[in-house]
Amino acid sequence: MVDRFADLVSRRLGLTFGPGDRDRLGQALSHRLPAHQDGTRYLDDLENNCEAGRSGARDELAALASELTVGETYFLRQPDQFAVLTGTVLPDRMSRPDRAPIPARLLSAGCAGGEEAYSLAIALAEAGYEEAQITAIDVNPTALAKARAGRYTEWSMRAVPPAVQDRWFQTVGKHYEVDPNLRANLDFRAANLVDPDPGLWRPAFDAIFCRNVMMYFSPPVMAAVVRRLASALMPGGYLFLGSAETLRGVSEQFDLRETNGTFYYRLTESSSAHGLSKTGPRPVPSPPPAPDRESLDRVLDLMRAERFGAALGVVEVIDVPTSPPGTPWETEVVLVRAILLSHAGDLTAAARDAHRLLGRGLVSADAHAVLANCREADADNRGAVLHWRAAADADPRFALAHLHLGRLSRTTGDRSGAGRAYDRAVELLPSESDRRMLLFGGGFDRQALLSVCRTMSRDDRSLHGGEAR
Ligand SMILES: C[S@@+](CC[C@H](N)C(=O)[O-])C[C@H]1O[C@@H](n2cnc3c(N)ncnc32)[C@H](O)[C@@H]1O
Repeated sequence: MVDRFADLVSRRLGLTFGPGDRDRLGQALSHRLPAHQDGTRYLDDLENNCEAGRSGARDELAALASELTVGETYFLRQPDQFAVLTGTVLPDRMSRPDRAPIPARLLSAGCAGGEEAYSLAIALAEAGYEEAQITAIDVNPTALAKARAGRYTEWSMRAVPPAVQDRWFQTVGKHYEVDPNLRANLDFRAANLVDPDPGLWRPAFDAIFCRNVMMYFSPPVMAAVVRRLASALMPGGYLFLGSAETLRGVSEQFDLRETNGTFYYRLTESSSAHGLSKTGPRPVPSPPPAPDRESLDRVLDLMRAERFGAALGVVEVIDVPTSPPGTPWETEVVLVRAILLSHAGDLTAAARDAHRLLGRGLVSADAHAVLANCREADADNRGAVLHWRAAADADPRFALAHLHLGRLSRTTGDRSGAGRAYDRAVELLPSESDRRMLLFGGGFDRQALLSVCRTMSRDDRSLHGGEAR
């Protein structure tokens, strides 16, 4: 039930969860269950309402967002980005020869309690952009209510210099209230970054701040949201992310820029529908690191010696070139890292790497194998079976996928299905590649696995009077 709930929240809100989040998810689910309703009915209704685009689904997702999103933020977080915005980005935007005479427009996407949006308003007002308009969106209605109230505790103010505080805040008891002038051009709106919203996702903004939001999203959701953010930027517009976030391996629509040590992104001219200007700061060339084959060989040797912890230590410091993504070497490093992360129990990171590999030819089968291991480690045998099946579909000669399907079929009592899967594994194991034996053989050699599969198949057949084959 919790897994189904996590999957739904992940698809509808973008958020991903690891094994450590199960209690939190379980609590959120029980808070939202109407009295006397069981979880299956609640999830069926929510899914159907989402599919049909009913407003009840939007309200329910908003309530779930209030329970599950992380809203940590404060005023003037990463102040260097505000300096780059007013000192470099907006001068470039406003001087474009093709620009209509309109004030600067900014989006704070995932604005939480409003601190980021008001910080933008302060930075813009202090730099003389009093007319600039700011739209601030969040999926969490509780956070938006706080943002609209504009009243904060000392905690939110921790990085505000006293002079800025004097200029823009009024102390009311133990609270700090923002200057009403800052609200004049500021619009707080409820919006879900994962949802299509034709009113919002069209070229309108000079710059978007979407900081510390997508770090909670799965890679495919992040890629989709970045495409959406790109569609909301005017040609040559800019995107600011949080310091732990990157577009490396996620999007080709942006150039990385750097000003005084601050990194940010600019929509490439080819991604801009009407890109004209060649002005503005120059892109930072980022040559991909050369493939470090020696380290990868060392990792594989350590795996052969079953020193998985040491292997993970080495693979984690390999500089993986993700631009352009999809080179065979990058693919192999990401796969091996995913396998080692799953051995180490870091299922979220392992699944993130595996998702990066789905759709890349035969390695998709390997990625599904990693995801199957993650599901099983998370006590989700049904999910594991689905991924092993997908692995066998992606590469029908993947002997170990059939072996694991046999093993898991037994746990559900499906001895006849188990027998068929073991038989197929026996047929294919002799030609399984050494690479796959090392990566997915669980430390057993080919002969040992062949002998296990033969015994199991015999066992299952005898139980079904020879019909297993
Ligand atoms: C950690 S806060 C970041 C606040 C601010 N941007 C900053 O960097 O200080 C993340 C915010 O993203 C919002 N968020 C998460 N998923 C979202 C979604 N699918 N659509 C819109 N907002 C979302 C959360 O509600 C939360 O308020």
